[in-house]
Amino acid sequence: MGKINAAITGIQGYVPEYILTNKELETYVETNDEWITSRTGIKERRILKGEGKGSSELGAKAVQKLLEKTNTSAEEIDLIICATATPDMVFPATACIIANKVGAQNAFAYDLMAACSGFLFSLSTASKFIETGTYKKVIVVGADKMSSIVDYSDRATCIIFGDGAGAVLLEPTEDGLGIQDAILRTDGSGGEFLHMKAGGSAKPASHATVDAREHFVFQDGQPVFKAAVKSMADVSEEIMQRNNLAADDVAWLVPHQANKRIIDATARRMGVGNEKVMLNIEKYGNTTNGTIPLCLWEWENQLKKGDNIILAAFGGGFTWGSIYIKWAYDSKK
Ligand code: UT7
Repeated sequence: MGKINAAITGIQGYVPEYILTNKELETYVETNDEWITSRTGIKERRILKGEGKGSSELGAKAVQKLLEKTNTSAEEIDLIICATATPDMVFPATACIIANKVGAQNAFAYDLMAACSGFLFSLSTASKFIETGTYKKVIVVGADKMSSIVDYSDRATCIIFGDGAGAVLLEPTEDGLGIQDAILRTDGSGGEFLHMKAGGSAKPASHATVDAREHFVFQDGQPVFKAAVKSMADVSEEIMQRNNLAADDVAWLVPHQANKRIIDATARRMGVGNEKVMLNIEKYGNTTNGTIPLCLWEWENQLKKGDNIILAAFGGGFTWGSIYIKWAYDSKK
């Protein structure tokens, strides 16, 4: 028997309908389309509207459509990992809520939190259950309703984030395709630059924390930007070297969509041309755990079996990483 790899055998995205444009943001804070576009590359983002709807609403829609698209019945799913920074509640896990919504009654389910790197950390974690032969069908879903934790009076953060979700189905393959390698890293000393101050066990919600607007994303943009540029480029270059990949061997770079300037710097270091870089930040902004699967979903019809694809992300923690995939199928679209 050959070595078992975990292969992505289906991908699906979901974004809510409401479009929040730079123009509308100009009515909330002192900003303008020119600044936002030139500093970040973002033109608009999607927002989930409606009382009582959380990240599971986005995630469940992506998973439901993924199941239909791959002709998979919900009962066949062994495990659902949900990467999210905006769980519906502190507990139960959003993955449990999603599993219930889609009828995945035989799956166990849990959340994995690694901020914007959560999708990569989850993908790598999920791949181990497949590679060891433990499970046959695992879903990784990245889902974030960032609008629930964004302060729309803070111009430094409210322009960046949007809501969205993406899900992949992982199955075993013995043909050498699928996930080849992963480099995942953490530096907790970066936590001070990007976090939510209250609402956790260290500082539970109180009138004082609400009054101080401490239930929103806090970001000191420049140190995060500097670390992101360096770290995402470092791991992307390292994974290429370790797998003997030259720039010409790379079919696609799939970067976390936080800032177009960070993405450009990563592509430059890898020597990969813009035509090979998946970029949809213009339409969706930073959907945290949704960015990478949303890109793969949008580009799915251009992906070919055997394509060398590098995924790369950086986020709060700090967390960052890179995954090398040999794409396992020609588009089913
Ligand atoms: O996904 C998780 C990881 N997160 C990231 O990777 C984000 C990394 N950071 C960034 O992408 C950038 O730091 C931001 C896009 C958040 C900010 O861009 P920047 O070029 O670092 O701007 P800055 O914070 O240094 O601010 C430059 C100027 C300041 O004005 P002064 O002090 O020079 O007069 C800001 O007050 O731009 C001002 N500014 C704005 N102006 C218009 C900040 N936000 C805005 C805004 N509109 N929305």
